[in-house]
Amino acid sequence: MHSLLVTNIGLLATPAGSAAHGGGEQGEIRFQKDAWIYIKDDRIARVGTGRAPAAPGVRVVDAGGCLVTPGLVDAHTHLIFGGWRQNELGMKLHGVPYLEILAGGGGILSTVTSTRAATQAQLVEKAYRALNEMLRFGTTTCEAKSGYGLNLEDELKCLRAIRELNRHHPIDLVPTFMGAHAVPTEWKENREEYIRLLCEEMIPAVAKQGLARYCDIFCETGVFTAEESRKILECGKRHGLLPKIHADEIDPIGGSVLAGEIGAVSAEHLIVCPPDGIASLAKGGTVACLLPATSFYLGATFAPARDMIKAGVPVAMATDFNPGSCPCLNLQLVINLGCLKYRLTPEEVLTAVTLNAAAAIGEAENVGSVEEGKLGDLVIWDAPDLDYICYRMGSNLSKTVIKRGAVV
Ligand code: NIG
Ligand code: FE
Repeated sequence: MHSLLVTNIGLLATPAGSAAHGGGEQGEIRFQKDAWIYIKDDRIARVGTGRAPAAPGVRVVDAGGCLVTPGLVDAHTHLIFGGWRQNELGMKLHGVPYLEILAGGGGILSTVTSTRAATQAQLVEKAYRALNEMLRFGTTTCEAKSGYGLNLEDELKCLRAIRELNRHHPIDLVPTFMGAHAVPTEWKENREEYIRLLCEEMIPAVAKQGLARYCDIFCETGVFTAEESRKILECGKRHGLLPKIHADEIDPIGGSVLAGEIGAVSAEHLIVCPPDGIASLAKGGTVACLLPATSFYLGATFAPARDMIKAGVPVAMATDFNPGSCPCLNLQLVINLGCLKYRLTPEEVLTAVTLNAAAAIGEAENVGSVEEGKLGDLVIWDAPDLDYICYRMGSNLSKTVIKRGAVV
């Protein structure tokens, strides 16, 4: 347990509360000048302005008059995978579409081969290095999906790797089971059997072993249909795994409508989300988890974020870190794209990568804002104000990262 006093904060910027903020609330940020934060036993005990209290024996960090925000929350990553896929760059540059690479047994399926070939220890070692990098960019909590094992044994291996990382790395991890990331090659001619395996063997085993909080699916042309997605996510729900869904990333085949109907905690991507999908998300209380670095990397359009905010849907943003559609783990780039491509304000963007992201992974009681009772997770920025971190691009502006009251 760590205690820490952060003094001389030029500007503290944070959303408030423990629930996702939609509509006008998305842009409500509490700004406090000349602030201090006292963290006691990992959690924020007091926040104030002006003269900091005396805290004998407690380590003091001088923020140097800089901006401080909550630690960033990355609500969507495919953290666990073997190998990389730099060979796909050339194909992309020659115009081969993402789904065509996948249909040919490449893409996700080639990462499945590398992930199956790796031991749990190798996966842990590789992901640990990625987490170190994320931490340096200011991420202090992160969701992590399985989904490159695609059989019982290898999916469990990936989820155990996440559990091990959560125990040993400062970043807190929230695990998601994504056995429905693709139909693996061995079941290509018998997808019904893979869906049966998912529902009757994999989901029950994952739930029984307490290895995941969420169940996610890739609802997409050539991957899983909306009806298959409904079946698998409903099965997850019956086993206590809450639904998430990759929806409307490339083709709008009904994923966002389904997300609202089944009360998904979040719907991901939503690049081509139609108006009835937005209405369904609003009705279902689903967080829109948008991944602008993926749009950028795929050369796709950008999700209709402003329409979502207008409809009262809380917008979160995440990296989607994975070896194919987004080999990027830097949430600061996501912040830039949120402003420039979604036309979100800096305030809306901050909510998207802190409180709304925390809500998208069921952690808003613990993280996502600087408030008494929440974890002492902070970023001290090499920046005077919030506009600055949205405006600068390509540098790592995170100066000091504090996780559970420890400088990490
Ligand atoms: O969110 N769309 C599905 N899954 C990932 C990509 C996975 C991959 O290409 O390896 C995504 O973009
Ligand atoms: Fe993803």
